[in-house]
Amino acid sequence: MVKKLIIGNWKMNPQSLKEAEILFRDINKIAKDSKGASIVVCPPFPFLSIYNKQKYKKIVLGSQDVSIEEVGSHTGEVSAKMLASSGVSYVIVGHSERRSIGETNNIINKKLTNILKAKMSPILCVGEITRDNNGEYLKFIKDQIQESLVNISKAQLGNIIIAYEPIWAIGANAEREATAEEFIEIKIFIRKVISDIYGAKTAHNTKVLYGGSVNPKNSKEFLHHGGADGLLVGRDSLVVRKLNLIIKSI
Ligand code: PGA
Repeated sequence: MVKKLIIGNWKMNPQSLKEAEILFRDINKIAKDSKGASIVVCPPFPFLSIYNKQKYKKIVLGSQDVSIEEVGSHTGEVSAKMLASSGVSYVIVGHSERRSIGETNNIINKKLTNILKAKMSPILCVGEITRDNNGEYLKFIKDQIQESLVNISKAQLGNIIIAYEPIWAIGANAEREATAEEFIEIKIFIRKVISDIYGAKTAHNTKVLYGGSVNPKNSKEFLHHGGADGLLVGRDSLVVRKLNLIIKSI
């Protein structure tokens, strides 16, 4: 059975090392009976070092971002190599909250290249700000994908996971939740865009996740009806009871 990816994006939470340790411990516990899922935890940078492969056997470590630079004098930056040597396997790139502070598709492309070079898997986030009746949002997503994947080879694409995260459905102030139908539409569209660049087989094999207000009530719908290859969970990945229900919905 192909495992579903359940990725917890902690964002800028929790506020203390102690709380982060408790979260790691409790998530590892619930991950123990999650046979159908790979559980990826993406804490903020200072908490990456809590992770210990022996202690948290059921958790895979992810990062929320990476530097555009590979090496050198770049105060405050964290390189892909540093992440890889700290046990990180997945890196979220192009999250809308980073795009909103200036991250362009070109920057994302460079980050993707660095992540792949360091032998980690990028989770490329795409998604429109709003929906319109003329299908402009599809063009927006297509541009995000095409511009992010410039000079990325077919073999490299095999390591990239795409997460569809409509901005209007993200966070506590979301306009509304997305439906599984809306996800299906975009999943097909994403595969079509990939297919036009890399061919149908590669497109078919590309994992497409859903993210944006995933909760225990809608997770099953996105996974089963929507056919999502996994979920990118924000708020509810910090509440172990809810995360457990999301994992169970697989
Ligand atoms: P949310 O965040 O689940 O809190 O909406 C998802 C995300 O931004 O990845």
